This record gives sequence, structure tokens and C-alpha cells, in this order.
Amino acid sequence: MSSRNAHKLRELDALLPGHELVPLPADVELPPETGTTFEENARVKARAAAEATGEPAIADDSGIAAAALGGQPGVRSARFAGDEATDEENLAKLLRDVPRDGDRSVAYVCALAFAEPDVEAERVFEGRCTGTLATAPRGTGGFGYDPAFVPDEDPGDRTMAELDPDEKDAISHRGRAARALAEWLETARAAVR
Ligand code: IMP
Repeated sequence: MSSRNAHKLRELDALLPGHELVPLPADVELPPETGTTFEENARVKARAAAEATGEPAIADDSGIAAAALGGQPGVRSARFAGDEATDEENLAKLLRDVPRDGDRSVAYVCALAFAEPDVEAERVFEGRCTGTLATAPRGTGGFGYDPAFVPDEDPGDRTMAELDPDEKDAISHRGRAARALAEWLETARAAVR
């Protein structure tokens, strides 16, 4: 698994039952994220992890796009408030930058790439989840932008950080991408049986 983000790992572990996910070893360096799309970044990370470890690898590249900011922060979500910014600083900047009475629609996007050392092409699965940006953070679950992300599919007015992990997984960008990947892995596994 080409990630050291404990939150992503925890979610993917629950979303990919039957697959043992091992965090990327500390001595493996990933190339800088210079891609302009989630898909491109996920492919590069998965390929680098598969080549470095000699094992199949999954990489997650994800983020949030705000309509009022023309889709920003997008692939720069982790570094929105600066290269070393914390989740709290990134969220605070998003809440400052999106006008209070403007378009508050947002979307989470997740690209999951799967790479194998001896197979040239990576497979990429993308999931999206649309919502509205709350005016102030609420809730303690999830991570990142979750305290201000009110998903369209929740019947209440809860933020992602106020949902149980299972509820988030059922509608999240990562949940959708992971279910598509799990289905493809099952088909691929059945084909070699
Ligand atoms: P990456 O590690 O470069 O893919 O950065 C992902 C960025 O998007 C981080 O800033 C996360 O906080 C944010 N992000 C991705 N997925 C989620 C999520 O499920 N909830 C909240 N924030 C997320």
C-alpha cells in the first residue's frame, strides 16, 4: 500500500476485506506529487511502490474540489495552506476562501491505482462524493476536511466527521473507488483460478 497516511489506511483496510494491506516501508521514497490529476498521481505512487517493494501496490490520491474556487484545492488539498500544513490549517483556509454566501458545493474525489511489478499498465478506479461546505467544523470522526463536508446523500445535516465509519464508507469517494477495485480484484483472481 503506497501510503503512510494512517487515516486512509484504516479506511481502506475496512473497505478491502480479504486483502492484506501493508503500509509503505519507511525507507521507500515516493516521487514528488507533480501530476495535475488524481489519477496521474495515484498511478505514479502505485508504480513506484510496486517497483520498490516487488509486490503489488495500491495508491490513493484524493482531495476536495470547491466550486467557488474553480475546483481548487484539488490535487493540492494536502498542501493547500502550505507545504507543511496540518489538516486543521488546510480546513481553516478552505473555510476562509469559500465565500459565505457564494456557491458552497464541494466534491471529494479519490483515485485508487493498482500496480504490479511485472505488469506494465496500472489500473485506476475513481470515486466521487458531492456535498456542501458547512460554515464551521463539526464532529470528531474521519480526518482532513471531514468536519466541514456535508454529504448530499446523508438525509440529515451531518458532516462526514459526525457519521460512523460505516456510514462514511457507504457514500464516500474512497468507498466507491475501493468497491470498484475490490470487484475488479475478485474478477482477476477468479480468472487465474
Ligand atoms: P494526498 O495524500 O496527497 O492524496 O492528500 C489527500 C488530501 O485530501 C489530504 O489533505 C486530506 O486531508 C484530503 N482528503 C482526502 N480524502 C479525504 C477524506 O476522506 N476526508 C477528508 N479529507 C480527505
